[in-house]
Amino acid sequence: MPETNRAIVFDSPTKLTLESLDFPKLQMPNGTKAPHGVIVRIVATNICGSDLHIYRGSFPVPQGMVMGHEMTGQVVEVGSDVQFIQPGDLVSVPFNVACGRCRNCKNGRTDVCQTVNPQVHCGAYGFNLGDFQGGQAEYLFVPYADFNLLKFPDNDAAMEKIRDLALLSDVLPTAFHGLMEAGVKVGSTVYIAGAGPVGRAAAAARLIGAAAIIVGDYDKERLDLVKRNGCETIDLSQDIPLADQIEAILGVPEVDCAVDYVGSEAHGIGHEAHELQPQAAINQVLAATRAGGATGVIGIYGPDPLADTKEGQEGTFPLDFGKVWIKSPRVSAGQAPIMSYNRDLMMSILWDRMPYLSDMMNTKVISLDDAVGAYETFDQGSANKYIIDPHGLISA
Ligand SMILES: NC(=O)c1ccc[n+]([C@@H]2O[C@H](COP(=O)([O-])OP(=O)(O)OC[C@H]3O[C@@H](n4cnc5c(N)ncnc54)[C@H](O)[C@@H]3O)[C@@H](O)[C@H]2O)c1
Ligand SMILES: [Zn+2]
Ligand SMILES: [Zn+2]
Repeated sequence: MPETNRAIVFDSPTKLTLESLDFPKLQMPNGTKAPHGVIVRIVATNICGSDLHIYRGSFPVPQGMVMGHEMTGQVVEVGSDVQFIQPGDLVSVPFNVACGRCRNCKNGRTDVCQTVNPQVHCGAYGFNLGDFQGGQAEYLFVPYADFNLLKFPDNDAAMEKIRDLALLSDVLPTAFHGLMEAGVKVGSTVYIAGAGPVGRAAAAARLIGAAAIIVGDYDKERLDLVKRNGCETIDLSQDIPLADQIEAILGVPEVDCAVDYVGSEAHGIGHEAHELQPQAAINQVLAATRAGGATGVIGIYGPDPLADTKEGQEGTFPLDFGKVWIKSPRVSAGQAPIMSYNRDLMMSILWDRMPYLSDMMNTKVISLDDAVGAYETFDQGSANKYIIDPHGLISA
């Protein structure tokens, strides 16, 4: 085994560095031995909109933390308590770190595992959520491997579709979680706020048989990617109320299901499009959902030290709750329990049920050396979903 691990490390807001760290050990962040864990050689590790919150400084993390939570790789070392995962297995790593033993994990709620993070009931790689190092690196330690890892049935078949399968660690299951929480089913009309990678992955709602899938954003290039793959689009930079734009498409001003794939870095509509309005997207999806419909909130909300209001800094955003209460809103929010969806979505990819995915996601494979530069480009709104290929295995 090599002695070092090249990794993208957080230094300070907008400053990341590529460093050579020690090879990871089978050990929990608090130093206890982890015979239930494995070491994964990373094959694909994507850059996410959630990484941008860290990069910009709105989600504080310690200096020296390895970035990244979207990993796919090959197991190279297994602990003595690991039963079902073996060296050589090609696996997807859900971004949630979960123990598989607590009440929430037993109920499939791996997004709120009660034991892996002493601060709050939620663990993730490459965040300040349990001190698990991220996977934008050559190697990664994964605890409770039998529980957490999704093994691909056949390595060669998986490598052929690796750009799509790499989306199973976060964006695709996360996008589907939003759709499920918003009650999307055959024939639904759906509003998707945000055409970033997660919003675009949600446009795969056609897999479930949604009727009209409407995606709203300002970014023309991102909207074009979904438009050419069968979605309706709304350009929010136009000074036209969202309800009128929805009505122009559907004949009615509301949809059955709406999902916020934006979070608290949202902007206003039309002449307010250049204004940061942390509560804009969540209020827009609440307003866009019909009485008796449902709303999912996937975009991240939390105290943001960079917000220019006291409410934003404290994470107490004003919601239009009084306006929409009478519609009996059903609202679901929080991190996605990846494990609830990743196996089924893997099968859909392996059986070619989402042939439009690669084009819609516009994935671009880059080396670890190019990753810091890709953060800068993604931060400026690039329409690519970057997949870092630390060992050159995808390119090969
Ligand atoms: N809940 C989870 O488990 C989970 C998992 C992954 C990502 N996320 C979060 O989901 C969000 C989206 O991730 P991403 O990678 O696609 O991010 P991204 O930053 O690339 O995309 C966000 C998009 O929203 C657009 N936007 C801004 N204001 C808007 C508005 N009012 N209405 C519609 N669109 C608007 C932006 O122009 C941008 O294209 C982020 O907040 C991310 O942190 C949550
Ligand atoms: Zn992510
Ligand atoms: Zn747990």
